[in-house]
Amino acid sequence: MSKTVVKVASLILMVVSFIAYIAGVSAFPIASENLLPWSVWFIISVVVNIIVWSSVMKLLTFSLAVIWFYAFVAGLVPESSTAINLTSLDWSDPESVAEQGAAIFNGKGQCSACHTVDPSAPKGRCPDLTDIGANAANRQPGLDAKTYLIESLYEPANYLVPGYGKIMPEIWKAPIALSKLEIEAVIAYLQSQGGEIDPTPYDEPIDRADPGTVAAALPPLLTGDPALGKKVFVSAACISCHAVKGIESPAAGEGSQDFEVVTAPDLSEIAAFNDMRYLEESILKPGAQIVSGYGAVTVKANGATFQGTLVSQDTEQIVVRTKKASGEEEEHTILLTELDEEPIEELANLKANGYFTLTLTPADADASVSGEIVEETEDSVTLKVGDGTQTLSKTDVKTLLTIVNFDGDEIVGSVVSGTLDDDELVLNVDGSEEVIDTFDIEDSVFTRAFGKKLLVTSPMPENFPLLLSVSDLSNLLAFLSTLTGAAATAEATPADATETSAE
Ligand code: HEC
Ligand code: HEC
Repeated sequence: MSKTVVKVASLILMVVSFIAYIAGVSAFPIASENLLPWSVWFIISVVVNIIVWSSVMKLLTFSLAVIWFYAFVAGLVPESSTAINLTSLDWSDPESVAEQGAAIFNGKGQCSACHTVDPSAPKGRCPDLTDIGANAANRQPGLDAKTYLIESLYEPANYLVPGYGKIMPEIWKAPIALSKLEIEAVIAYLQSQGGEIDPTPYDEPIDRADPGTVAAALPPLLTGDPALGKKVFVSAACISCHAVKGIESPAAGEGSQDFEVVTAPDLSEIAAFNDMRYLEESILKPGAQIVSGYGAVTVKANGATFQGTLVSQDTEQIVVRTKKASGEEEEHTILLTELDEEPIEELANLKANGYFTLTLTPADADASVSGEIVEETEDSVTLKVGDGTQTLSKTDVKTLLTIVNFDGDEIVGSVVSGTLDDDELVLNVDGSEEVIDTFDIEDSVFTRAFGKKLLVTSPMPENFPLLLSVSDLSNLLAFLSTLTGAAATAEATPADATETSAE
């Protein structure tokens, strides 16, 4: 009697869990992460059925188990390669839209190649998106969360998260090329991270029909030979810094390079999420966009100089990794307010030179003005002072002149009249005017302002445009375009896929 109950119950459980697994119902009996996923219920019931039933039912159970196994294995293949095609979104169930968005985030969208959603993850090349649903509302004054997310996905360069370069691809363009529905689902997923999902429809801020906006393959790609490009990658010593799966890296100190080998991004999957224009620019103008966490920096703070890698940067502080002579690495967290103000001789290209604050004294004022640099033109600079801004001339400023005469004496004063080209000039030194004979001056330095500076440069050599011939470059780009990680993802997925299917 009781054996019949077990038989029938496990048969029912097997059929139900089979159907539930194939249909993708989330968990048993209500959605909760603590309960067993359907795949586990199914396996339990198969085992029980094979023990308790007669041989015919054993065979049937076994056949069902085989069918299920194929479905299970197919489920391990990443979304990106099974190319899910969204045709509509069911906004009556925003959570399920967010789930579809999560699958795109981790698959076709390539977002997880750059972004983490884990506050404990090490600070990487791209911002961690934990709580982005809530944070998106405070990113840009006047933009609500959804508008901000729309902007950051369609036009990522419009607003950059402090400390990050223009690395994020326009994900609606090739090679990622998400459709509008896919982007809507991703936005729902991002909003579900600490915020409210807002189903309001929106118009895309871009024109997909305009051929100019769709990234076309660059001519070099059409002509280059990937096999030759792979050779260039090795002979031009890209491999000394960049790892690529399948190419052996030279042993440390091997070869005669005229640059310092540094840690650089792994390029095994670089073409999966970057277009060819970005890759070409990375080689020809390495400084144009610097991948966060890899830039080189020299800063002065509290009188000391730190030279090393800028590990991370936000609105308040930076982390710089330096190397001691012994080879040991050290990380220093430095508040931006702790950076020293450095004297500035020429008030030109301040921002390009890394200055972000400025202190100067207008020629007709006694007190100096100081603030964050908001905008700069050739002859003026706008500073954020208190709650407002102030635009100051770059030429009408009080200038300090430090001179050393032939006796080795140093005099510092502000220039009242005259220039170094005149026979005499007048300096105000500690409130009293002094006439200086310019023929006595051995050395002089003008200080027009003081500023705090954070200049990040790329450690990648800048001479590739000279070293590489046109055909080398086109072959190299053709080779880079093959680095989509297609082979690598197949290896890496089982673990990821089981994680997501168990949710
Ligand atoms: C090649 C790397 C890369 C890929 C791929 C990428 N991003 Fe980004 N993303 C970045 C970087 C770098 C930033 C910071 C600079 C900026 O604001 O554009 C960023 C910024 C963002 C922001 C703004 C974050 C904030 O804190 O304000 C969001 C949202 C975002 N990405 C979402 C996505 C989504 C969704 C995808 C996939 C469809 C994606 N990203 C793919 C690199 C990437
Ligand atoms: C001295 C070490 C070094 C050498 C040699 C070097 N790179 Fe780089 N490269 C870097 C570093 C560091 C970065 C990250 C900082 C940046 O964005 O400039 C980088 C960035 C890149 C990027 C952008 C990567 C990303 O994740 O967005 C590409 C593409 C690239 N390099 C290609 C090349 C190619 C091709 C060569 C050979 C012609 C080469 N590099 C040689 C150090 C190097």
